[in-house]
Amino acid sequence: MHTVHKSPRVFVSQRAPLDGDADLLVLPIFENDDLADQPAMAPAAGDDVEAARARLEFRGRLYEVYQTTVALASGRTGRVLMVGAGPRALLTDDRLRRVAATAGLAARQRRAPRLMVVHRAVAGIPDGRAAEVLTEGFTLANFEGASFKSSPEVLWLASVELCVPGAAGDLAAHVARGLTMGECSNIARTMANEPGNHLTPRLFAERGAALATEAGLRVDVLDETRIAALNMGMLMGVTRGSHEPPRLLVLEHRPAAAPAHVTLGLIGKGITFDTGGISIKPAENMDKMKDDMSGGAAVIGAMLAIARIGAPIRCIGVVPMSENMPDGLAIKPGDVLTSAEGKTVEIINTDAEGRLVLGDALWYARQLGATHLVDVATLTGACVVALGKSTSGLFGTPPSWVDTVQAASDRAGDRSWPLPVFEDYFDHLKSDIADFTNSGGRPAGAITGALFVKEFSGGLPWVHMDIAGTAWAEETRPYQPKGATGVAVRTLAELALSAAEWAGESGR
Ligand code: BES
Ligand code: MN
Ligand code: ZN
Repeated sequence: MHTVHKSPRVFVSQRAPLDGDADLLVLPIFENDDLADQPAMAPAAGDDVEAARARLEFRGRLYEVYQTTVALASGRTGRVLMVGAGPRALLTDDRLRRVAATAGLAARQRRAPRLMVVHRAVAGIPDGRAAEVLTEGFTLANFEGASFKSSPEVLWLASVELCVPGAAGDLAAHVARGLTMGECSNIARTMANEPGNHLTPRLFAERGAALATEAGLRVDVLDETRIAALNMGMLMGVTRGSHEPPRLLVLEHRPAAAPAHVTLGLIGKGITFDTGGISIKPAENMDKMKDDMSGGAAVIGAMLAIARIGAPIRCIGVVPMSENMPDGLAIKPGDVLTSAEGKTVEIINTDAEGRLVLGDALWYARQLGATHLVDVATLTGACVVALGKSTSGLFGTPPSWVDTVQAASDRAGDRSWPLPVFEDYFDHLKSDIADFTNSGGRPAGAITGALFVKEFSGGLPWVHMDIAGTAWAEETRPYQPKGATGVAVRTLAELALSAAEWAGESGR
């Protein structure tokens, strides 16, 4: 495998854009832009851009790109990449992040490693926040999915100079945070892109443990013996059909000044390949099921960011890792499993495996002292039907905790939307012989999946994020290549970093 992501050197400078010597000058352009705030750049946006506007080639619409030239102060002719930023009044930090990612990807295509970026100040986005999301966007652009090509022709962004004239205060901390958020997202994307034969549960745990140790997290990798000793019958049930042993990766961030009453527990589904087991999936698109560990990758990526940036609270990450395979020893529909918590589950469909491994992992996070739970999982096709590929499903209780997680996801650029967890939906999981079943069938499939997981939340504040639709991009976008998206990494990190806003005296 080749290098698949590289963080550019990002720095803030006071230089005027035309004084630079970069390979490419990046200039965000709004719709009907008169560049009144960038008089020096007006010549670059002169006749050529007017003509492009007239022939409707480039109008500053969101994520359009247009390349032209400009005379630099040095007398050289510089290349300028105009990037559409949409209507000025509608610019958000989320759009700005994507504008940066669009520019970064376009610059790499144009073989331009050193960028100078013009910052267009807008009301409502402070310079520090702009520097942060721009840095994130350019870092996210420095990711390459085709890591197994034998002769890659990859060009990496080497440096990004952000021109923020007269920037009030020091923006370095914002840039550093943006870099970390972008890098940790790329680490998660790298793991999620990895084929099932390369990233087995054992190697997934090893990779996560190595990265976490380097970031200063405490690490515990539970092997099959310890998992059995804890009676994790659901995780062991899912693993029975596989020749690869399971792992439970546990990461802990415990800052010295952490308040004693609150611990954020992050749990991520880590199925390194989901065939469906005996309830086997159809062949079409089964290859995509190598990304069924995206939730686990997101938890690992988030824990790295939490350690590097230094979240003010104790956080634990728990990732159950397993394959879901059909085999002579595999669990069968009709089997009954006993969870570590003691609750019994009748297996209706062996393809509803994610909720099984999550249940035992949520229980373990509680044993370790978690007071607030968030789990992330590519859990149900039904969630993709409900919300499509752009929005993750949110489920949980109490509503205030769901709101808190949703607000973090908005800040992170990981859009999510709540679906209900009304108790009567639990009727779908009724079993004649066990406490409940693992599948409620097709109706409200995303909700019944969430309600299953809720059974293992022990009454704590809990949110479940279903990323089945958002973890993998099937289409290339100007701001994002096909493949793993790194969704939820920044949401979970944002949540931990903003603990002061939700972890009040009594917890919740
Ligand atoms: N990993 C799948 C969910 C999935 C489907 C993710 C499509 C991404 C794209 C999960 O393990 C699964 O198979 N869920 C079943 C549950 C059903 C059997 C109750 C599903 O969604 O069909
Ligand atoms: Mn499945
Ligand atoms: Zn699955």
